[in-house]
Amino acid sequence: MTQSTHIQVTTTDRITTIRFARLDKKNAITLEMYGALGGALEAAAADPGVRAVVIAGARECFTSGNDLGDFMRAAQGGGDIQAPLVFLRALATFEKPIVAAVSGVAIGIGTTLLLHCDVVYAAPSARFKVPFVDLGLVPEAASSLLLPALVGARRAAQLLLLGEQLDAPTALAWGLINGVAEDVDAAALAAATRLAACAPAALRTTKALTRRATRDTVLETMRVEGEAFAERLRSPEALEALQAFMARRPADFSRF
Ligand code: COA
Repeated sequence: MTQSTHIQVTTTDRITTIRFARLDKKNAITLEMYGALGGALEAAAADPGVRAVVIAGARECFTSGNDLGDFMRAAQGGGDIQAPLVFLRALATFEKPIVAAVSGVAIGIGTTLLLHCDVVYAAPSARFKVPFVDLGLVPEAASSLLLPALVGARRAAQLLLLGEQLDAPTALAWGLINGVAEDVDAAALAAATRLAACAPAALRTTKALTRRATRDTVLETMRVEGEAFAERLRSPEALEALQAFMARRPADFSRF
């Protein structure tokens, strides 16, 4: 399994917890971390002793999304843009139940990965944002399909086109999450503990049945989004947005 000091993986009482741990960079996800995330899912899938997975961050922050330095390297022709896709495919096809615990910001893939989790709890501090267009980019993780399906086309436009940020109560009202909890780790663990006690094959089959109608479309959407994403990442628009982030100034798209 790919190891990363920035992804902590522990298994206790039949529950694997995967935790983002790169707080100095707001838990931004690097290529190495994607490898570790994928590896942790693979190990949890293969271990019959694991019945449920929890994905969590820190109290201060879930994750600020893809590492923008890695995006910059990819935008300039280097780096790898397959690693997030490999992780997302593993997440989307994972057969055991996944519970997410979100505290603080969940940006970009920090929000879109939640679309592939089964149960999501958020702390009152949680904030959700998918600023792909702000970065000169396009949605990933099949969020162009799953977000409108989950929250409706109008609200999806607020998130994906206008790049608006959602707070926890609004995310709950819109159906993006299952509940708001002061102790989000405890809420997620309680749900995972209940899931870990369920009949495992019945649970796996039920999860597969609930995703049967959309599974192929989700994977196909991820592939098509991936192509558009790769193309946009190499665009002058994305370069301007990424340079603006690094320089801590607003992006200026007026010349495009
Ligand atoms: N990639 C790389 N580094 C990131 C990052 C990211 N996605 N998000 C935050 N960081 C880094 C910052 O560059 C900063 O590093 P530094 O201390 O070496 O300068 C550090 O994390 C702290 O971030 P900072 O911006 O100072 O904290 P903040 O509390 O003011 O703001 C965020 C936090 C998350 C709102 C802000 O950092 C942000 O908007 N990040 C980008 C989110 C994003 O666009 N993600 C991609 C989505 S597709």
